[in-house]
Amino acid sequence: MTSAVHHITHPLVQHKLTLMRQKDRSTNSFRRLLNEISMLMAYEVTRDMPTQLIEIETPLETMQAPVIDGKKTVFVSIMRAGAGFLDGMLNVVPGARIGHVGLYRDPKTLVAVEYYFKMPADMHERDAILLDPMLATGNSAVAAVDRLKETRPRSIRFVCLLAAPEGLQHFHDQHPDVPVYVAAVDRQLNEHGYIVPGLGDAGDRIFGTK
Ligand code: URA
Repeated sequence: MTSAVHHITHPLVQHKLTLMRQKDRSTNSFRRLLNEISMLMAYEVTRDMPTQLIEIETPLETMQAPVIDGKKTVFVSIMRAGAGFLDGMLNVVPGARIGHVGLYRDPKTLVAVEYYFKMPADMHERDAILLDPMLATGNSAVAAVDRLKETRPRSIRFVCLLAAPEGLQHFHDQHPDVPVYVAAVDRQLNEHGYIVPGLGDAGDRIFGTK
């Protein structure tokens, strides 16, 4: 199976992404925009979430009405930039659980090295939505999905803001079964592994560490 790329072209997402790319945007504003985009992307990534009918009483009569089971969703943040997606996603799916994968990029080899991994119990009952704003080389995303698959979640989706074509290809080659939700696919990676034109270092821009 070849994984799908869901390019989220909604004008609100594109507009906010453009603002985030601007180099002079403050940390506060960058974070707020990411929060808003996260809510909009949560809407897309959960579009086909299963619902079940429950019986409720309206002021007029009893009816069968659909609900989703947010407790079955687990947002998995790839540390540290993935955390920038969490608040917005949780606004939309407040019952979701949270997992964390800690990976850093070896600056010389750009290979992803794991330093932390913590998931909720019963992953086989859960739909995992993996979060990282940047799909650059794809090494972190591939390594995160490798580990996540060991926990056997019911499904896995990957959400990022920006992808490089090289990273997207690498991710598809390694995990053709995992759909990717992305706001923009940029031109290329530069020699330092940054996406260009990109938005710089997402972690530094979210946390104000530069
Ligand atoms: N990680 C980032 O934060 N930015 C990039 O451009 C690539 C990887």
